[in-house]
Amino acid sequence: MRIAMIGTGYVGLVSGACFADFGHEVACVDKDAGKIANLKNGIMPIWEPGLESLVKSNADRGRLTFTTDINEAVKGAEAIFIAVGTPARRGDGHADLTYVFDAVRELAHAMTQRAVVVTKSTVPVGTGDRIAELLEREGAPAGTSVASNPEFLREGAAIADFKHPDRIVVGAEDEHARQVLREIYRPLFLNKAPILFTGRRTAELTKYAANAFLAVKISFINEIANLCEAVDADVQEVARGIGLDNRIGPKFLHPGPGYGGSCFPKDTLALLQTAKEAGIQQRIVETVVSVNDDRKATMHERVLRAVGGSVKGKRIGVLGLAFKPNTDDMRDAPSIPLLKALQAQGASVAAFDPAAREQAEAVFENVEFAADPYSAAKNADALVIVTEWDEFRALDLDRLAKSMKGQVLVDLRNVYDRAEAEEAGFDYYGLGRGKVDGRDGRLRLVPETSGKDVQVAR
Ligand SMILES: NC(=O)c1ccc[n+]([C@@H]2O[C@H](COP(=O)([O-])OP(=O)(O)OC[C@H]3O[C@@H](n4cnc5c(N)ncnc54)[C@H](O)[C@@H]3O)[C@@H](O)[C@H]2O)c1
Repeated sequence: MRIAMIGTGYVGLVSGACFADFGHEVACVDKDAGKIANLKNGIMPIWEPGLESLVKSNADRGRLTFTTDINEAVKGAEAIFIAVGTPARRGDGHADLTYVFDAVRELAHAMTQRAVVVTKSTVPVGTGDRIAELLEREGAPAGTSVASNPEFLREGAAIADFKHPDRIVVGAEDEHARQVLREIYRPLFLNKAPILFTGRRTAELTKYAANAFLAVKISFINEIANLCEAVDADVQEVARGIGLDNRIGPKFLHPGPGYGGSCFPKDTLALLQTAKEAGIQQRIVETVVSVNDDRKATMHERVLRAVGGSVKGKRIGVLGLAFKPNTDDMRDAPSIPLLKALQAQGASVAAFDPAAREQAEAVFENVEFAADPYSAAKNADALVIVTEWDEFRALDLDRLAKSMKGQVLVDLRNVYDRAEAEEAGFDYYGLGRGKVDGRDGRLRLVPETSGKDVQVAR
């Protein structure tokens, strides 16, 4: 099967490389000439485990090629995937489809034979219909069909997710499109990945519903964590206690500093816009968006409370900047409002991230980028764990504590146990793990929204 992949970002590059690995012939096209030149030289535009060797082995075998020329990529392709960005539109937050429709116009002119045009980008319900109309208007060859094949991979585990998906969703309105997509994904359902054929609109909505539901789960456990802090319960145990129930499941029940990344924030907003246009309320998702916005905007208050009310003139060490581990993606990362608020309150910040430094340098001003976790902690008044990279899970806590000026550890991912942190001499502040032991009269953490114990400027 010959495939063209338009857009060679996280989704396009991973999908293209995996399709090539299945034995298909894949041409990846991108407008970004620098990205394509680098890829031709084996230099990856993103940090994703296993990607470099997968790209290299398939490029060496001649099954995976890179170009900036859409005519070359589309030539002879039986399927043309669109994997360009669909960021939140300024103003109303709806999905900005400019890149999608530009790509459709370009490919309509480049096509010389019929093909199945497949939207992998996350697009609002009805976009497939608009793509079909546009293709026709721009003179795409007769018999061209349009399908929706939303992508569910997670950054940081993208290749494993693509090769072992929980399910493949294909929304198509004709048998030819279904056949082509069945053939493309055949290697996967031989491995028993369920392939779900739906109408095009249903597939488009399924992607938004999936991300919105995961955002609900995250925000739910974050609010339960707040409650745990007020009533002296342990959210880790609550999460386990509910997660062992098959109807609930254990995943996405980890409290944290709020969801970020390139998908959940924009996809929840786009779902709300779709609902608004349809005249249907989505009160749960509306609430989740505002709960998450509040959480991200108030995380710095926990650091303030932990250091006694003010960070003015204090040095704060930060571990992890990417929105989650195993990626260098900084889009909508919770570290951004946190660090900016700490700086605005007069703190100096030294941060370490195993992969995101380059991306982070473009986001922050006056942040000192440390070469390792211990340098970030050196002379710090407080250390804050923001992203739960594996390499932060087994740090030498004694060494960290000794190199710091203060003894505060704010663990926004609950990586450490209170007992082991305290043994190393830290004053430990996790999320939702009961109130801080009152025996020695130490500060008790309360949910950030109560604001009763410390005056904090928002
Ligand atoms: N990143 C994820 O984890 C993820 C997961 C599932 C779905 N998605 C969805 O997939 C889509 C792509 O996301 P991403 O994170 O890969 O985006 P990205 O920004 O990393 O990559 C998009 C690429 O498309 C290129 N591009 C834009 N217009 C083009 C055109 N006309 N021709 C050729 N190339 C063009 C850009 O130069 C860029 O390299 C989005 O709709 C996103 O919501 C993303």
